Amino acid sequence: MLVRRSSSKVTDVSPTHAEIVSVVEAAGQLADHSGLRPWRVIEIRGDARDRVGDGFAKAEGKKGKDAEKHRQKARRAPLILAIVASLGSKKVPRWEQEAVASGVAHNISLLLDEAGWGVFWRTGSLTRTKAVRKAHRLEANEELLGWLYVGGLPERARKPRARSRVKVEQHLSSL
Ligand SMILES: Cc1cc2nc3c(=O)[nH]c(=O)nc-3n(C[C@H](O)[C@H](O)[C@H](O)COP(=O)(O)O)c2cc1C
Repeated sequence: MLVRRSSSKVTDVSPTHAEIVSVVEAAGQLADHSGLRPWRVIEIRGDARDRVGDGFAKAEGKKGKDAEKHRQKARRAPLILAIVASLGSKKVPRWEQEAVASGVAHNISLLLDEAGWGVFWRTGSLTRTKAVRKAHRLEANEELLGWLYVGGLPERARKPRARSRVKVEQHLSSL
């Protein structure tokens, strides 16, 4: 975890569906108030990525060339994992359910990073628009938490990845 890095650029290779199944299975073993499992992940590959891009374009009212720009955005990685919070419970506050879904996304990023894949969590102002919801076929009780863009780690990013360490004293205190 000390050396984890996001990779905004990834190559065209990607983990198989079977690899994603085991990553999601492990990532889902996290603390979860009332064991609701209030999340799901949508695996998006190949031409299905254009549905996401078209959702972005529609949300902005773009057509033609401008729509193509959005399609390219959704093609920045061979595999996109859309992270969805499925907010089913009235007893457990919504924010707690979103915290669980967010934890799953972080776990997935960590597991993929550890396995040598490049990962980048993206959101943006269009994430929770109607058109983007529709493109992902979300239910009324669901919200997107963004997308993990996943692919091969470029050669350059394979070198030891120096990063500034957390200044623990700024984030850890006692009462
Ligand atoms: C919920 C969430 C949404 C994010 N959305 C974006 C985004 O839309 N665009 C972006 O450049 N970085 C975004 N980031 C940040 C990157 O994923 C990444 O963490 C950041 O570039 C720092 O790199 P590092 O993880 O290697 O420290 C987001 C991170 C999180 C947790």
